[in-house]
Order: sequence, then structure tokens, then C-alpha cells
Amino acid sequence: MENEFVKTFSESYAMKGGEGPHSYAQNSKVQRVGIEAAKSLIQKAIATKFDTNTNSTYSRKQICIADLGCSTGPNTFIAIQCIIEAIELQYKSKDLTIPDFQVFFNDHISNDFNTLFKNFPSNRNYFASGVPGSFYGRLFPKESINVFHSSASLSWISKVPKEITDRSSAAWNKGRIHYTNAPKEVVDAYANQYQKDMEIFLHARAEELVGNGLMALQIPAANDVTFHSEFYWGKKFELLGTCLVDMAKEGKVEEEKVDTFNLPIFFSPLKDLIKILESNDDFIIEQMETIDAKSHFIPVNAQMFASLHRAALEGVIENHFGDEILDELFDRYTKKVMEIPAMLDMQNLNVVALFVLLRRKV
Ligand SMILES: C[S@@+](CC[C@H](N)C(=O)[O-])C[C@H]1O[C@@H](n2cnc3c(N)ncnc32)[C@H](O)[C@@H]1O
Repeated sequence: MENEFVKTFSESYAMKGGEGPHSYAQNSKVQRVGIEAAKSLIQKAIATKFDTNTNSTYSRKQICIADLGCSTGPNTFIAIQCIIEAIELQYKSKDLTIPDFQVFFNDHISNDFNTLFKNFPSNRNYFASGVPGSFYGRLFPKESINVFHSSASLSWISKVPKEITDRSSAAWNKGRIHYTNAPKEVVDAYANQYQKDMEIFLHARAEELVGNGLMALQIPAANDVTFHSEFYWGKKFELLGTCLVDMAKEGKVEEEKVDTFNLPIFFSPLKDLIKILESNDDFIIEQMETIDAKSHFIPVNAQMFASLHRAALEGVIENHFGDEILDELFDRYTKKVMEIPAMLDMQNLNVVALFVLLRRKV
């Protein structure tokens, strides 16, 4: 029998830890803008959909909240504080005693939880624990969580689809590190993996949420993109891939290594993502809105642009190639970004965040 406590569906690649110049903590302002933009949506969602009767866990009077894919902070603290304040408001408005809050911070086992713990807000009004493990599987006991939150994390798939690193497969993704401008078979392999992962994710959360429990997700998606080759975010990855190919040509990395390296990231076309959410039977969609990244993006120069990507991708690259190539790879990337001004032009940004509030059916 499978052991659901140790079952893992996912490879583990976390953001760059610590608080140094390449760390996620120092390079997550873009994601923070998304969290700030979603604040009013979360407040409205809690105000209208959080049920103080069914969500007080009966005699214990505690509310359990989990942030999935929390990384090292500080963004996760902003999101959690926003949720707690909105719930407190609900209790106050009904003259009810404010319950205790228990917050679970989840991320991959390789996440730098020490940095996260070190930076817990000193004035926090909740109990806190770290929960290591993949959210593409069960993380919590049945019916134990009142509110789930996740932002900017569900574009990471559980693993690179096997067939795209298989020479004998039509989906072999030679000379690229992503699906941008790749044959249809490669795109399909990514899309299939994404769909499977999302279904597993939703099923696991449905088990863990209390009846009527809420899940607020902010999921990056590709907006109005007919062909994956037009997708701005993919072009950035494609450019990074060309740096690796150049290094292979110069004998600085093995070609075979480049051919077998692919980023485990998928930006679903918005309409496909909505279809996946709508076809799920465990949840009711209470609210769904897109947050247009373009209007919230902060301008960056080439150096900052490369740092943002290094903070997110260094782990997965280092895992495959070792750490010796990182400085040169990202120096090359910075130079290429400087040569292509369109990369830094946010008007080309056709990524949106889908904010969706799901309620667990009773
Ligand atoms: C771009 S960061 C977002 C962090 C934070 N939510 C924010 O908005 O700043 C994505 C996070 O998702 C985590 N992640 C990706 N796949 C995961 C998985 N299967 N299980 C748990 N965490 C995962 C990564 O490790 C990373 O910390």
C-alpha cells in the first residue's frame, strides 16, 4: 500500500535562499506587486465568503491557514497578514471572540526555511510552522485547514515531462530549455503534465480543507496567446537557453547536458486554466478575476531583470549543471537582455495572474 505521508509527486527545486544579492528575499519585488494587487480581492473574498460559523473548528476555536509555495519571505507574510486581518474583521463585526490563528508555511524540502523563520514578523499574531514537501500531494490531515493561499507558485510543474528528454521521442526538446518555439509535441507534453498536476493539487486540497473552507489562488497564466512562440515569458527562457547553447559551443558545458535540461515551468493559456478549474467537482468557484501584470509591473534594468530570474532559476540550473556556470551564465544573459530592449518593455508582457477563490463543497 502506498504511504500517503511520504508519497512525493515532485522534484524539489526551491528559490535561492539566504538574503544575499541573488536571493529570492532580495529579488521578489515583482511577485510582491502581485500580492499587493490581490490584497483587495482577498479582503473582499473573506468579507463575503468566509463563514465564521462553519470555519471555527468547533470546540478548538482555531483557524488554520496555509500558504503553499511560500519561499523565504517576505511576500508570504504580507499575504498571510492580509488574510488574518480580513478574518478578524469578520469576527469583530459579529461581536465574536477572535480565534487563535495557526499558519502553516509550505514549500519544497529544499526551501530555505531558516531564512523564512528568521524573518517571521516580530509583531505576528499567529502561531507558525513550516511544512516541507510538495503541494502536488497531501500535506495536511483531512479537513484540517480553513484557508489555503498560494501565489506565483502553481506555474511550477511537479517535474519535467519524461518524454522531452528522451532522444527517441517525438517530444525530445533538443537545444531548448523550454517549450517556446518548440514542436507541438513538446508543448503538449508540458500542458499534459500541468493538467495532471493541477488535478492532483486540487484533489489533495479538497481532502485537506474543512467543508466550506476557502482557497485563494493567484496563478500566472498566458493571456491571449495563440502560439506559445508569442509568449513573452517564454521568450525570456528561450534567451537564457541560447546562452547555455553558446556555452556548449565554446565547450564550457556539455551539449548533452543542455539537451537534457528543461525548466519545469508552464504558463497555461488562461482559457485552458479556467477550463481545468471549472471541470473540478470538489470546489465551487466563488470569484475569478485576472490581475493584469502589465499595469502592476515595476520597471527593471537588464541587471535587475537577470537577478530576478537568477533568484528563481538558480536552484534548478545548479541542480543540473553544478554551480560553476552560474556567474558566467547570468552575465551572458544580462548582456543579451541589454541587446534586446523589447525584453524590458513591459508593454510586451502578455502574462496575467488569475485570482480565483474556491470554496470546498460540503
Ligand atoms: C515564485 S516563488 C513564489 C513565492 C511566494 N509565494 C511569493 O509570491 O513571493 C514560487 C515558490 O513555489 C515553490 N514551489 C514550486 N513548486 C512547489 C511544490 N510542488 N511544492 C511546494 N512548493 C513549490 C517554490 O519553491 C517557490 O518558493
